[in-house]
Amino acid sequence: MKNGKRCAIVTGAARGIGRGISLALAEHGYTVAAVGTRPADAVEEYTAELRRLSPESFYIRGDISSHDDRLRIAEEAFAGLETVDVLVNNAGVAPNVRADMLAMSEESFDRVLGINLRGTFFLTQEIARRMAAQQNDAFRAVVFVTSISASVSSVNRGEYCISKAGLSMAATLYADRLAEFGIRVYEVRPGIIATDMTAGVREKYDRLIAGGLCPIPRIGQPEDVGRTVLALADGALGYTTGQIVGVDGGMTIQKL
Ligand SMILES: NC(=O)c1ccc[n+]([C@@H]2O[C@H](COP(=O)([O-])OP(=O)(O)OC[C@H]3O[C@@H](n4cnc5c(N)ncnc54)[C@H](OP(=O)(O)O)[C@@H]3O)[C@@H](O)[C@H]2O)c1
Repeated sequence: MKNGKRCAIVTGAARGIGRGISLALAEHGYTVAAVGTRPADAVEEYTAELRRLSPESFYIRGDISSHDDRLRIAEEAFAGLETVDVLVNNAGVAPNVRADMLAMSEESFDRVLGINLRGTFFLTQEIARRMAAQQNDAFRAVVFVTSISASVSSVNRGEYCISKAGLSMAATLYADRLAEFGIRVYEVRPGIIATDMTAGVREKYDRLIAGGLCPIPRIGQPEDVGRTVLALADGALGYTTGQIVGVDGGMTIQKL
């Protein structure tokens, strides 16, 4: 809490799903520390919208795969927010090239796991230590944005699937470890969401969705994930922790 408002850190906040999440939180009374890799002058349109909804929110430039940046992100976020109620681990990347797993490079494996898994795990550690040390009776939560790829195989981006499967276990571990501090932990698994990440394969996905891939017959929007994370952050599922919420239009329903 700062000046009576709940406080959240959101990574990868300036575009795509992170934008949907951070603006949903800002619109519903949160002050947000928004993290991204781009310089502040490259995200001015976003920060103007964020601050219109939540005037004390601010942007932190940082790369979650860098140890030094993770430390600075945590320090700047806690300095600006005072008490952190919610951490949303949304930042993530797809492989630069969708290569068959029999041809996948070690460089791509290291890059994707370095950001999605190692970076997110250790940023959470940095922030969770501080949250655990704070006296705070408010509802507190950590949300991990993984993917249906945590359990659905895509052999042309195996490193992404492995990173999200690993992150899913990280969410379970943090749920177990942070319960004693009153911090709930959730995993949100988006399906196909319209963002830069899926722009290059949009035609293929549109075709699959038109052909019945999702029982809810449309592509997901960042706002769909934003509303879900807002509900979790606000404590709507307060007597749960370590649970997975799929935001995938029902895509992972097994059918006969
Ligand atoms: N789109 C989908 O269909 C889909 C489905 C399932 C799961 N997801 C997951 O949802 C999350 C957001 O995806 P998206 O579709 O919104 O992707 P996106 O449009 O490509 O945005 C990715 C975000 O992550 C940030 N980011 C990337 N590397 C970073 C790093 N090293 N340090 C800090 N921030 C970093 C980016 O920051 P900059 O703005 O500074 O570049 C950007 O804000 C990801 O974890 C992704 O795996 C997406």
